Amino acid sequence: MRGRPATYFVIFSFLAIIVVSACENNNEFDLYGVMSCDTTDITWDNTIADIMQKNCVECHGPDISYNNVRHDSYESELIVVNNGKLRGVVNHQSGFIPMPFDRPQLPECELKQINIWLDNGAPEN
Ligand code: HEC
Repeated sequence: MRGRPATYFVIFSFLAIIVVSACENNNEFDLYGVMSCDTTDITWDNTIADIMQKNCVECHGPDISYNNVRHDSYESELIVVNNGKLRGVVNHQSGFIPMPFDRPQLPECELKQINIWLDNGAPEN
C-alpha cells in the first residue's frame, strides 16, 4: 500500500497536463462559437482594405462614389480619415450620416479594428 498516493499523484498530474494543454489549443471560436477579434498589427493592407471592400466600395468605388467618397485605395481613404468623417459615420456619431447607408452598423469587431487603426494614425502597412 505504501507508494500508492504517489502513484495517484503522478497519474493526476499527468491528466491535468493533458487537460490544460488541450485547452490551450482552443480558440474562442471552438469554445463559444464566435470568431475572435484580431486587434494586432492593424494596417490598411492587412485589415482595413478588406473591411472597406466588403462593406463600402460598392457605393464608394470606381463605379459609384456617393459624395465623391471612395474607399478603394489608401490615398482616397486618407481624405475621410483626415477630415474625421470616417470615424464619425461608422460609429454613428451625432452630426454624421450613419454608414453603411441604410444598413445595420458594422459588426463590433470591424468597428473596433477601424477605431484602433485610426487611433494608431491609420498606417498603410
Ligand atoms: C448602399 C450604399 C452605401 C454603402 C454600402 C455605404 N455608403 Fe457611405 N454614403 C452613401 C450615400 C448615399 C452617401 C451620401 C449620403 C448623403 O449625403 O445624404 C454616403 C456618404 C458617405 C460619406 C460622406 C459623409 C459626409 O458627411 O459627406 C462617408 C464618409 C461614407 N459614406 C462612408 C462610408 C463607409 C465607411 C461605408 C462602409 C462602412 C459606407 N459609406 C457604405 C452610400 C453608401
